[in-house]
Amino acid sequence: MTAVPAVRSVYVCQQCGAEYPKWSGQCGACQAWNTLVETVAARGPAPSRARQRASTAAAAAGAAAIEAIGEVRSAEAHRLASGIGELDRVLGGGLVPGSIVLFGGDPGIGKSTLLLQLAARLARAGHAALYVTGEESAAQVRGRAERVNAVVDGLGLVATTDLDTAVGAVEAHAPALAVVDSVQTLASAELGGPAGSVGQVREVASRLADVAKSGETAVALVGHVTKEGTVAGPRTLEHLVDAVIYLEGERLGTTRLLRAAKNRFGSTDEVGVLEMRGDGLAEVPDASRFFLESEQPPVAGSAITIALEGTRPLAVEIQALVAPSGYGSPRRATTGVDVNRVLLLIAVLARHAGLNLTGHDVYVNVAGGLRIDEPAADLAVAAALASSLRERPVQSGTVLAGELSLAGRVRTASRADRRWAEAQRLGFTRLITGPGRGSPGERGIVEALDLRGALQSALRED
Ligand code: TYD
Ligand code: MG
Repeated sequence: MTAVPAVRSVYVCQQCGAEYPKWSGQCGACQAWNTLVETVAARGPAPSRARQRASTAAAAAGAAAIEAIGEVRSAEAHRLASGIGELDRVLGGGLVPGSIVLFGGDPGIGKSTLLLQLAARLARAGHAALYVTGEESAAQVRGRAERVNAVVDGLGLVATTDLDTAVGAVEAHAPALAVVDSVQTLASAELGGPAGSVGQVREVASRLADVAKSGETAVALVGHVTKEGTVAGPRTLEHLVDAVIYLEGERLGTTRLLRAAKNRFGSTDEVGVLEMRGDGLAEVPDASRFFLESEQPPVAGSAITIALEGTRPLAVEIQALVAPSGYGSPRRATTGVDVNRVLLLIAVLARHAGLNLTGHDVYVNVAGGLRIDEPAADLAVAAALASSLRERPVQSGTVLAGELSLAGRVRTASRADRRWAEAQRLGFTRLITGPGRGSPGERGIVEALDLRGALQSALRED
């Protein structure tokens, strides 16, 4: 084995984590300026040390241990379900022992609250839990625990910013769940660089990943989202952890959405809906109804679609405002839908439905802070825009789900039957979608061939 030099100095981009032997003004990997910071590494980083140890041990044993696949214990069978249904579903059915999950989100969004509640739930169910706080004092965590009913036997607290102390505590107690709050406040004394720098953040995550993998402890790691909108620089942490769950929401609103950006143990399509209350985060009883902002009578500029986020259909209101623009180029702004998709729909509306928005500012918003990426929302977005321009509400009781082609044709939404069933459950009486569901003429279903036909049906235009 080659000797590792005692002191190693590298320049690490704080944005993307690329390493360079020399300083330069711009990062060659992500092109960001002034992001390289000298990081003095006393020794090689921990994961490579661990891997070295592991490979030497394996070499010494002559061969890697081989287990028959039938003998290997499946992680699935042992998932730790918290009982917070929305969280468990996004995780893929609960936490997997020996895994590490990164919980990202803006400061103040409720990450500490959620994980304290998670730890308390598991402790109450008889699974030992440990909460490592580097961010707040033990007294502050205790204060929050009182508010969210998390003062439970079997939930331990460690207040430290020292990585070795945190790792030592997890190893010594081997809890079912260790919450580490947060990756940005812990630091290893062995490494140069302040807490929160890319080198430290990576070291914290990889050491904790090692601890999780070597035992049965599930580690929930909190990471604040930086100004650039990523957890401590893009790509620096995602590959070190098994799952990345984002907690999102509007700062002033009380709705919080859980979304998986990566999940080795489940789908990334699931969305969890929670509400911030006085006593912590709570599940929303009828999540599907949650995103329906306005009740009857319908107003112009609003259309409802049934989105399928993951396995669950959600009724979602799309709001559009179209207003004559002043000088200069008209504004197009969206929240919750891709602005480029809306630009495309504006072009399709002009070409195939005779609705010209060239001289109008256009704003599109998804109610409730949800983000919709599926093309099945096209029809509802187009209907909301047409409704606002025509100042004519979409017929009450109507939902729309279908994708629009550039030629102005409507394609039926995937799993249209699931969506229709949900729409009916919520009291809607009409679904406007594309052709080919296989049951034309079914009561309440309008199979529109093209955009013009769909809009005529939605707005009852002559
Ligand atoms: P917190 O969990 O500290 O956020 P993070 O760890 O993501 O930074 O949540 C802080 C916010 O949540 C704070 O503004 C107060 C609010 N809150 C409630 O509304 N109800 C509660 O029961 C708790 C504990 C916090
Ligand atoms: Mg916090």
